[in-house]
Amino acid sequence: MISSLRGMNDILSDDYERFTYFIEIATNVAKRYGFHFIETPLLEETALFKRSVGESSDIVGKEMYQFIDKGENDVCLRPEGTAGVVRAFVQKKLDRAGGLHRFFYHGAMFRYERPQKGRLRQFHQFGVESFGEASVHEDATMIMMVSDILKTLGIGYRLQLNSLGDENCMPQYRTSLIKFIESMEDKICEDCQRRKTTNPIRVLDCKNQACQEIYKNAPKLVDNLCDGCSNDFTKLKKILENNEILYEIDTNLVRGLDYYSKTAFEFVSDNIGSQSAIAGGGRYDKLVEFLDGRATPAVGFAIGIERLMELIIMPENARNGYYIGAMDTEAIDIVVELAQKKRKTEKTVIDYKVKNLQNHLKAADKVNAKYCAVIGSHEMKNKTVWIKNLEDKTEQIVEVKNF
Ligand code: HAM
Repeated sequence: MISSLRGMNDILSDDYERFTYFIEIATNVAKRYGFHFIETPLLEETALFKRSVGESSDIVGKEMYQFIDKGENDVCLRPEGTAGVVRAFVQKKLDRAGGLHRFFYHGAMFRYERPQKGRLRQFHQFGVESFGEASVHEDATMIMMVSDILKTLGIGYRLQLNSLGDENCMPQYRTSLIKFIESMEDKICEDCQRRKTTNPIRVLDCKNQACQEIYKNAPKLVDNLCDGCSNDFTKLKKILENNEILYEIDTNLVRGLDYYSKTAFEFVSDNIGSQSAIAGGGRYDKLVEFLDGRATPAVGFAIGIERLMELIIMPENARNGYYIGAMDTEAIDIVVELAQKKRKTEKTVIDYKVKNLQNHLKAADKVNAKYCAVIGSHEMKNKTVWIKNLEDKTEQIVEVKNF
């Protein structure tokens, strides 16, 4: 038997119901905030992710599904959605059009990670990207959108917040952090020693407990912000407080993608185990320029759908539509005809197997139908259909021509 690849799941039945329920709610929220749907390809040039997500990131360094296609192009399956949306934004010359451009998307992402609970190699994200707004109000709006989606789904969360500074304050901070790392070089793990040269701020997010103890004394990003970044961060916190969004400052939150500056945030859940991040995002004001577009401020987020699906409790599903079946072989043709007629307006599930009434009622219950309609030899003779309302348990007999 051929099985699906490790870390790649089928989505069907109840999972599919939860999946589409989530997409519907998130889409409604995104539309209410004035965002428009965008679909970008699953396959892109590898260079796109190297230049945006960053060569030093784990995603690009270790986790890409990368290959040379038949035309000798170096391509890879997208590990995330932001880079493709920015590429489309520049390619469609929207950077030159000016104004605000707000997009949402959902779809499969691919990362060759070590699979475990909540960590897949093919997973799905719902994301939004907003272009053209430099004000920190838009950062707050992103956070409020995620919060709205989670609240609608009845999912609790903790919001972690940090500011990563910008080109004015980050270089100076990086220098003082490198100095600190060098003073501790013999005590930190090999990965951190490597990060010191590739991307020093990533050490702050090291999963090694001994390293974390050491970094408690490291200089903090939030204490080294320039006036502009510091004022924006203060304002962001104020807007969130005014809108009753609780947050925690996590000075070690640096995110696993290199394109961020200023605001960085993550929504975490305490109920899904170690892979606790259910959404992440932040500001990326330099990325459009980095991908050859005209300088455009931007901010966005993505929600991990599989992790959320663990937490979604579906509302009680109301019975709906018809189940229709035959109690006599002779009745099958008319049952098919009636099902076809009913489907013009109602969900109608048919069972071609001839069964007794008891078994048809059981089958109707299983598909959550509101009505169970059956035709047997008696109904054939009288040109009628026997119908039971499975909600209020009432029964009726109607003429076939009135069904
Ligand atoms: P990210 O933090 O890499 O950000 O991913 C966003 C979310 O996707 C995570 O919080 C997590 O829920 C989910 N996720 C990530 N990797 C996996 C995995 N291997 N298995 C299951 N779920 C996973 C981004 O991707 C950015 N593009 C977000 C963004 C949009 N920033 C600005 N705009």
